[in-house]
Amino acid sequence: MDLSTGCSKIRTAVFISGTGSNLKSLIKFSKTIKSPISIEFIVSNNSKAKGLNYSKIYKIKKKILNFENKNLSEKKLLSVLKANNIEMICLAGFMKILSKNFIKKFKGKILNIHPSLLPKYKGLNTHQRAINNKEKYSGCTVHFVNARLDSGKIILQKKVKISKNETKASLAKKILVQEHKLYPKAILKAFNL
Ligand code: GAR
Repeated sequence: MDLSTGCSKIRTAVFISGTGSNLKSLIKFSKTIKSPISIEFIVSNNSKAKGLNYSKIYKIKKKILNFENKNLSEKKLLSVLKANNIEMICLAGFMKILSKNFIKKFKGKILNIHPSLLPKYKGLNTHQRAINNKEKYSGCTVHFVNARLDSGKIILQKKVKISKNETKASLAKKILVQEHKLYPKAILKAFNL
């Protein structure tokens, strides 16, 4: 990734919509010596997102924007990210699609985690679709974000076996455990660390 890795850490914002378990794992990672990033900002489109509690717990600034008017929300977001010198964005269960224009402003500096083995099962309801198709494996992927949904360059993936009586809930749980390990690893890889 073409960000300078001097002695200070890369100022990063994490975007969430829900529970924020990946956010929590990224915060924990960011506090380790080996982490190239520091998490300085949490963004949510959902004011009720449970993950927003981590803003209080870890004293990280937050911004809630409802994205009903995407143009306006993104405009406000860009200005708040700029004011806070945010250099990199990690999407972690963020369920809104960012515009081409927004992505251009952070070109090559937005990462996403997706609960499938991309390019398979882009979009929503990944676990049920994988089970319905009788896949033997699913998993998770960390990739760079480009203008096309779940299609940017893949950084790392982790395979997870689908058991005989798997349900979408049990598969989601299994994959989430792996997501928490994969995202930090992928960040290190993205920085060639
Ligand atoms: C995670 O499984 C993440 O991969 C998925 O939402 C969940 C968020 O969990 N993301 C997507 O489906 C994006 N299309 P979390 O809020 O506990 O991190």
